[in-house]
This record gives sequence, C-alpha cells and structure tokens, in this order.
Amino acid sequence: MILVTGGAGYIGTVVVRELLNHGFAVRLVDKLLFGDEGLEEVKNRIECIQGDLCQFDPAWLDGIDSVIHLGGLSNDPMAEFNPEANKKLNTEATAILGEHCKRKKIKRFIFASSCSIYDRGLLAEDLLQDEESPVEPRAAYAVSKYQAEQELLKLSGPDFCPTLFRQGTVYGWSPRMRYDLVVNTFVKSAFDKGILTVHCGGEMWRPLIDVTDIARAYIVCLQSDLKTIGSQIFNLSYKNYRILELAHWVRKVFRENGMDIEIEVEYGSTRGRSYRISTKKTEQIIGFRPQVSVEESIQTMVKKIQNGIHADFNNPKYYNIQWIELLCMAENILKKTGGIL
Ligand SMILES: NC(=O)c1ccc[n+]([C@@H]2O[C@H](COP(=O)([O-])OP(=O)(O)OC[C@H]3O[C@@H](n4cnc5c(N)ncnc54)[C@H](O)[C@@H]3O)[C@@H](O)[C@H]2O)c1
Repeated sequence: MILVTGGAGYIGTVVVRELLNHGFAVRLVDKLLFGDEGLEEVKNRIECIQGDLCQFDPAWLDGIDSVIHLGGLSNDPMAEFNPEANKKLNTEATAILGEHCKRKKIKRFIFASSCSIYDRGLLAEDLLQDEESPVEPRAAYAVSKYQAEQELLKLSGPDFCPTLFRQGTVYGWSPRMRYDLVVNTFVKSAFDKGILTVHCGGEMWRPLIDVTDIARAYIVCLQSDLKTIGSQIFNLSYKNYRILELAHWVRKVFRENGMDIEIEVEYGSTRGRSYRISTKKTEQIIGFRPQVSVEESIQTMVKKIQNGIHADFNNPKYYNIQWIELLCMAENILKKTGGIL
C-alpha cells in the first residue's frame, strides 16, 4: 500500500487516480484544508485519513510499502504568510516523517521538492542549472524545501532511500484545481478578462510540467530499482519557458477555439523569479521524459472550463493564499464568538 500525504491537493488528486489505475492500494493523509471534493470519484476506493502532518501518528505507516510526500504549504505567498508554520510543516514535519519511515524500514520515499530552490532572480547570470549546481535559496518556501531535502538525505541509508524530485511549476487540469500557478492563471485570465498581463517584460525563465506527467514520473519511480533512483535528487520538468512565450501559447490555443485575447507587457520591474534547469539526469537515470506540452494542457483546460468544470473563477479555493487568509480570518472570528449559531 502507498501512503500519499497531501493526497487531496492539486497534484495529489491526480497522483491518487494514477496509482489506482496502476493497481496500487492507496492510503491518504491530508488536513483537507481545501476540502475533499477532488476525491469524490475515488473516495470509495481509498483509505482517507484527515490528519495533520505536524501531529504525526506512526499508525499511518502500518502496512505501508512506499510513501509519496506532497503535504505542505505549496507556494511563496503561503510560506511568507506564516514563515514559522511553513518551516514546521515543510521542513520539520518532513524530517519526522522520514525518521518514522526509516525506523519502519520503508525504503521508498518520494518527496515533492521544488525547482524554486534554483531561483537567483532575473538579474543573476542566466545559467542552465542541474542537481549539482550550487544553490542559495532565498524565499521562505524555497529555503524550507531545500532544508527538507537536506534532512531526508541525512537520513539516507540501506533502510531509507528517498527520491527527491525538484519539480518545475506545474500546469494542467486537476480535480482539485489551482488558478494560482502561472499557466493556469493565464488560462483563467484569458476566459475571465480576455487579457494576459505579463510582468518584467515576460523575460523570466520557468521550468514547467503538466500535472499528469508528475503522476507518471512517480509511477515510474515506484517501479524502478531503488539502487538506481534512491537517495538522490532529480529535476523534473517538461521544458524551460519564458513567461512571455507562455502567454503566446495561451493566445494561440484560444485563437484556435475562436477567442481573441490580448497580451499586455509591463517592463517596470526586474524582481521576478527566474531559473532554467537541466533534466538530463532524470532522463538518463530514471529514463523518464514528460510528454504533455503546455499547448496540449491548455487545450484540455479550455475544454473542461467550457464544459463548466472549475469555471467559477471567483471561488477563493482556487487560490491558495486567498483561501488560507479567509480560513484564518474565520478561525479568529469563531474563536471570539465561540461558534456560528
Ligand atoms: N504545484 C506546483 O507547481 C508545485 C511545484 C513544485 C513542488 N510542489 C510541491 O508539491 C506538493 C503538492 O503541491 P500542490 O500543488 O498539490 O499543493 P496543494 O496546496 O494543492 O496541496 C497540498 C495539500 O497538502 C495538505 N496539507 C497542508 N498542510 C497539511 C498538514 N499540516 N497536514 C496534512 N496535510 C496538509 C493540503 O490540505 C493540501 O491538500 C507541495 O509539497 C508543493 O510544495 C508543487
């Protein structure tokens, strides 16, 4: 049985489906911060535990062969909203989970790290970075992911062989949708406003990957020899794109669907995140190459939205930071009132 932490999230709900399609039994642990609607179609086929990774229960690992660890605060604004909680969850809870796995000899452990570790800013030298490149993560989110990697690698040995995927920014349709990820945001803005605003001249580089390719990479990893893929870092992305290029892909697909959209480029700022990565090691050692292009993924999202799925763009659940701020505000009010009715 596979334990998926954060399995009710944007990536998790797609991964759980792919695991079931491949015949794996799934147990999921998630705080369900964004609800469990994304699990509607599969919830009778999985074991779903509502739990907080910061209050780890070793029983979650009973009968588990492998772990896919996705639970956490998943972007810069959330990490900056509460850096202490971010460190506790993204770094410390990851290390605790790793220690428990090692104790139970659960060797296979996939961790969703992030390519934002490579970010050196738009003004830094434009380098193609690989897993050996020296890194100096700056933002709270990237620091927490990097430190989690270090903790997991420290635990590595014959009883615990984690595979750490430094994932590019993810795009594509998921049963638990996010519109706060660059490509998805563009698709939402194209429908909602008919205009895409691109900052910093759109020059920022970003490695990107479709959410279904992430799920496929995990499956390949679960089926690979641990001696080859364990205790290592791998970059995971389809391609490096400039942000302006992404806007043009969105415009192309919308034109093909009979909709004209505008692209507005702002040149004022130079503070954007920017990084390019090499995926050579992943292709050579894991033998995995993502398949879904940005164009194809946008096309799928357009069709889903035209069918009315996740088309309520004003729903704050699609935007992690908005939703978390709303929950915190409601929590504070409820603490004072002692309840609603
Ligand atoms: N989406 C991306 O572009 C991207 C890129 C690189 C890495 N990642 C990483 O992949 C993972 C999944 O990202 P996502 O896009 O699915 O994010 P998401 O926010 O949709 O999902 C995260 C899940 O973790 C759960 N969670 C949060 N705090 C928890 C806690 N204390 N205990 C248990 N569960 C908790 C949430 O309820 C949510 O279901 C994250 O670790 C993220 O940092 C994401």
